Amino acid sequence: MQWAFFWLALAVGLHGAELAGRSLDSRQVDNPSVTNFIRRSYAAATVLGDYVYFDGGEISQYINGLRDSQFDSRPVNNTISINVAQSWTNSSVVLRSIDKSAPTFDNQAIWTDISSNSFYIWGGRAWFGIDVPLDQIWRFDTDGNGGGSWTTESPGSPTVFDNLIRPAEGAFANSKDTGFWMGGYAGSWSDPSLSGYPGVSVPNIVSFNMTTKLWSNDSALAFTQFGTDVGGAVDFIQSFGPNGILLLLGGGAGVVGAYQINDPAGMLDFNNLTFYDPVFKEWYWQATTGNVPPSRQSFCTVGLPGPNHTYEIFIFGGINLQFNISYGDIYVLSLPGFVWFQANSTSGGPRTSHTCVIVGKRQMLSIGGSDQTHAATMDSWLFPDPWKQGLGIFDMTEMKWSAGYDANADSYDSPKVVRDWYNAGFVPVTCD
Ligand SMILES: *[C@@H]1O[C@H](CO)[C@@H](O)[C@H](O)[C@H]1NC(C)=O
Ligand SMILES: *[C@@H]1O[C@H](CO)[C@@H](O)[C@H](O)[C@H]1NC(C)=O
Ligand SMILES: *[C@@H]1O[C@H](CO)[C@@H](O)[C@H](O)[C@H]1NC(C)=O
Ligand SMILES: *[C@@H]1O[C@H](CO)[C@@H](O)[C@H](O)[C@H]1NC(C)=O
Ligand SMILES: *[C@@H]1O[C@H](CO)[C@@H](O)[C@H](O)[C@H]1NC(C)=O
Ligand SMILES: *[C@@H]1O[C@H](CO)[C@@H](O)[C@H](O)[C@H]1NC(C)=O
Ligand SMILES: *[C@@H]1O[C@H](CO)[C@@H](O)[C@H](O)[C@H]1NC(C)=O
Ligand SMILES: *[C@@H]1O[C@H](CO)[C@@H](O)[C@H](O)[C@H]1NC(C)=O
Repeated sequence: MQWAFFWLALAVGLHGAELAGRSLDSRQVDNPSVTNFIRRSYAAATVLGDYVYFDGGEISQYINGLRDSQFDSRPVNNTISINVAQSWTNSSVVLRSIDKSAPTFDNQAIWTDISSNSFYIWGGRAWFGIDVPLDQIWRFDTDGNGGGSWTTESPGSPTVFDNLIRPAEGAFANSKDTGFWMGGYAGSWSDPSLSGYPGVSVPNIVSFNMTTKLWSNDSALAFTQFGTDVGGAVDFIQSFGPNGILLLLGGGAGVVGAYQINDPAGMLDFNNLTFYDPVFKEWYWQATTGNVPPSRQSFCTVGLPGPNHTYEIFIFGGINLQFNISYGDIYVLSLPGFVWFQANSTSGGPRTSHTCVIVGKRQMLSIGGSDQTHAATMDSWLFPDPWKQGLGIFDMTEMKWSAGYDANADSYDSPKVVRDWYNAGFVPVTCD
């Protein structure tokens, strides 16, 4: 820190100390207290053993009772873990900060390798104030106690890997042994080999076999006109098809070479779903019925099997850039009925660029996200998250937001609306 900044910070700090009610944190941290937390966004998350890990993204917080005078938000430089063996609320939850030797990205992927209790990060863009890191593969090995350490990994197919550019804001998912990434967009702020801001939509599906470390880059021209999609979601459904199947949802499919945010035409709808068999590399489509969600991007999804041979996918929030609509709603899609229902329960306001994981047996944890309805009138980093620590818990069976996380919640059962629908006489359909 330069001396001028030091004295400025001190002066601001003294002023801040006069503000009532806030515990004073005199420096930036990745896990501020409930009272110092303002907003977190653009992180990615996974669950391994008894811990949720989230990584990357940015945070805004009060320092000495005041907002950061230099930046709206700062990159989150360490990895965070939360214990899900115990119940908590968003006021009582403990966020542990784990030292990170790997670089920090917004809108990266996390791919989880359960067989080795580790996860990989790939993709993402760098915070504007820092150099864009070289293209490398980073792996986090958990220690079983909510900690762990970072190392780099060598690609099994260096030629393929070296030809990949690093995009951000793609859709990602993983099977037991393979990580997938659909689309995204890239520019000088995401890949050191690229010049030019604001960047371009990137076509194709990238996959990384975590067993063999082999990379692949396959066509997605069957999915969208240019094989692109930004801000969509992918879910891997193990129980469908011989190899499991990827369901690709939402986002916006821009022209290759166009900056998707300025070219929001091509928002994908949720009426006609696209599925991809990643081993046979075959595509399938299926029309849906019910209360279909409006088009959006930068939402979050989780999916899990029901006890009666169904599979439910929950989608939460997001934004439609074409019509500038921010969402805080939640929908469930049930397979094999291909039917949508909307939850009546709402909480926490519109939410974009958050991330979701399943915690315990039947709850969805939403982490962070910004409210873009405040983008013009007030900086969205300044508008405090209505949820403490930016954490929300949704009971997927009850279809409602909960006061906190219940480590002893029952097993998942499909929501009542879903059970009623199948019980009313469902006839299976087959994919086109
Ligand atoms: C992360 O590192 C950057 C660059 O050193 C720094 O400016 C920022 O304050 C750090 N973020 C947090 C949340 O401490
Ligand atoms: C995958 O291949 C396509 C076609 O060659 C290329 O345009 C795209 O940049 C590649 N994807 C990545 C992430 O590098
Ligand atoms: C990943 O590699 C393993 C080991 O060769 C193989 O068994 C598996 O089928 C591969 N996964 C995919 C999705 O191709
Ligand atoms: C869904 O999209 C696919 C691919 O564009 C198309 O072949 C199929 O006819 C569509 N189905 C419906 C019901 O629109
Ligand atoms: C929401 O409320 C309406 C009206 O009470 C009800 O018909 C519908 O089933 C509810 N939806 C869910 C998902 O519970
Ligand atoms: C989007 O809507 C918000 C209110 O929800 C408004 O403040 C903002 O100006 C709008 N942005 C654009 C680009 O129209
Ligand atoms: C915690 O999150 C839930 C959503 O799960 C929300 O309804 C509740 O208001 C939050 N509690 C506090 C104290 O912020
Ligand atoms: C499973 O589904 C069948 C028919 O769809 C229904 O008759 C049965 O009650 C369901 N069982 C459970 C446990 O929901």
